[in-house]
Amino acid sequence: MSVRLKQDKPDTRNILDKTQQKVIGKPVSRPDGIAKTTGTAPYAAEYAIENCAEGVLVTAPFTRGEVTGIDASSVMDMPGVIAVIDDDRLTARPAQGTAAKAPAQPARKVGYFGQPIALVVAENFEQARDAARHLKVQYRADALSDVPLDPENAGAESQGGTRQGDLAHAMKIAAHNVDVTYRTHGHSSAAMEPHAAIAQWDGQRLTVHASLQMLKFNIAELADCLGLEEDDIRLLAPYVGGGFGSKLGISQETVAASIAAMALQRPVRVVLSRQQVLQCVMRRSETRQRLRLACDEDGRLIGFGHEARVSNLPGESFAEPVLQSSEFLYAGENRHLELELARIHRMTAGSVRAPGEAVGMPALEAAMDVLAEKADIDPVELRLRNLPEKHPASGLPFSSRKYAECLQEGARAFGWEKGGWQKGPRRPRQKKEGEWWIGTGMAGAARVHNVMEAKARVLLQPDATAVVQTDMTDIGTGSYAILRQVAAEMLGLEPEKVLVELGDTDFPRASGSGGSWGASSAGSAVFVACEDLRGRIAKLAGTSAEEISLKDGIASWHGGSLPLDQLLDGKQLEAEGHYQPGDITDDFTAAGYGAFFAEVRVNDFTGEARVNRMLGAFGFGRVLNEKTARSQCLGGITWSIGAALTEALLFDPVDGHLANCDLAEYHVPVHRDVPDLDVLMIEERDPVASPIQAKGIGELGMCGGAAAIANAIYNACGARLFEFPMTPDKVL
Ligand code: MOS
Repeated sequence: MSVRLKQDKPDTRNILDKTQQKVIGKPVSRPDGIAKTTGTAPYAAEYAIENCAEGVLVTAPFTRGEVTGIDASSVMDMPGVIAVIDDDRLTARPAQGTAAKAPAQPARKVGYFGQPIALVVAENFEQARDAARHLKVQYRADALSDVPLDPENAGAESQGGTRQGDLAHAMKIAAHNVDVTYRTHGHSSAAMEPHAAIAQWDGQRLTVHASLQMLKFNIAELADCLGLEEDDIRLLAPYVGGGFGSKLGISQETVAASIAAMALQRPVRVVLSRQQVLQCVMRRSETRQRLRLACDEDGRLIGFGHEARVSNLPGESFAEPVLQSSEFLYAGENRHLELELARIHRMTAGSVRAPGEAVGMPALEAAMDVLAEKADIDPVELRLRNLPEKHPASGLPFSSRKYAECLQEGARAFGWEKGGWQKGPRRPRQKKEGEWWIGTGMAGAARVHNVMEAKARVLLQPDATAVVQTDMTDIGTGSYAILRQVAAEMLGLEPEKVLVELGDTDFPRASGSGGSWGASSAGSAVFVACEDLRGRIAKLAGTSAEEISLKDGIASWHGGSLPLDQLLDGKQLEAEGHYQPGDITDDFTAAGYGAFFAEVRVNDFTGEARVNRMLGAFGFGRVLNEKTARSQCLGGITWSIGAALTEALLFDPVDGHLANCDLAEYHVPVHRDVPDLDVLMIEERDPVASPIQAKGIGELGMCGGAAAIANAIYNACGARLFEFPMTPDKVL
């Protein structure tokens, strides 16, 4: 596994390129790493709380209809049973995490198989689970049967898009064109830590240990749902075992534990089973995507069409934003992009790992490969010829874009052109080793850049150590390490001198972790707080912030130098940083870019496709920590492998239940599926992305990678497939 980091020229206008500590960007290990790997970091369900009762959710055994009665007496005599909580708020669907209000829905209505309808609370978990299985529920199924189970047959509403010029005409006059339709299946976030919550109510205030990504939003959702004020609630999530979108909003376990704790006046823990996580938390929508690409003799796009159909439950507003990066990635004056939303009865569709581009980019990049073949142009070259100078519809300039560099440097590092058997025009079925066809493929990556408002407090203590406090979460991404580095760099301290405390709503509220905005948003809040502290340190030294130099706990300025603790002279300095991004999308097109290169082998007899090696080259603004950034890239590429080859939510066509609701049946990649991965980071300074010039990293690795594998499957064995994942039955 190798990593190369190519650095942009330092931008001397940004203070992080002038500070002395030189710790920003370094591969600093996570301060939380040892606690996590030794099992001593407590996750939501793991707090030993006295007198804690155990709750198990009862879920709907039907797909659409209405609960007409819950017979608590059917289980109240069972051993250990304390209560059956039968509350309309339990049937609420999980929120999406970006709205302050939890979504409302008619009481007792069931919209999907596995939807929570009641909570059984008992003295221990086994008793609660047993009673939950025996609870008698009366219901009327099919009460909403005019809404179908299958998106193909459902009615759909347009969510808008872009129409420019005349795409049909461009397709007609094009030297080469493709008109292809792709299908992708639904995905599950499949976080390692199941959803869990422990709620405690002291009569005044509710304290909830939960596994959530965005506490600032989650506390608002929970307050709204329970009819409390935010001040009446404290949410704690210092460690989160993965989220991938499924914990952006509060979900049923948090609501159920809270309602039960308040009703029973005793702590209640609710942990979802793995099956419940898959069945009722949320899904990525399946998609159907039509790509129309038209180019001239030289491979220059004159027409670009991307139309997608996604689905959600009736009443839900989220529509998988499949076309997000297609809007600006490639040129083509005649454009038709349109998203439509079908209404079906599957669990709520929401943000799952790189919502939009995770499925939109693979379809686009697979279609680009078809076009490259038709036009007989190398796929890397085809992309290089079609980079627009500005956003093709809005005309907004790009804030920074290293797409060409990613394509070129990635191709070089992978050995795209000197692959031996790949000399000359690319043709399928050129190399075979035993019963395996070998092939290569590439694809581009793009993911819009998001930033969010964030606050953080930084305390510089008299002994010249610092404490960072914010409700920011670390969902396995490295927030503890990165925020420590930002503070250490700005205050001139060794990283070990900075303690980072996260995941507590009693701290200043940050962006949370989502949409790859966590590091740049929360990092900017810490940066702003430290800018303030630098000014105050300079004042103590009788100089200006521009003149002061801070390194290893020593302040130096023109004509003087003093250890920070002496300069502080017993004082503690405290600053709250408030980062409030302007709407950068008003003035710029901001995104991260990349390129994937894959070599696969495909078994001639079984159709099994395996990735031999894969490289991702990415340009995503300033790298704050080389090690955690690389880990994010590796994770993203791993998701790409899952999306390409194995991951699919499979619904029963008759009753609509999710058939593969555990990690044995829902196949995320395991070690055996993931070969040696190569990451090339092409660092850049994005002047508008955030004050620390960082863009999002986490999700980019999944935005197109599946197409590199799909294109390599075609190159290996000649099977041009139009459905992800490309399981052996489809390859054959
Ligand atoms: Mo991400 S799917 O916005 O956690």
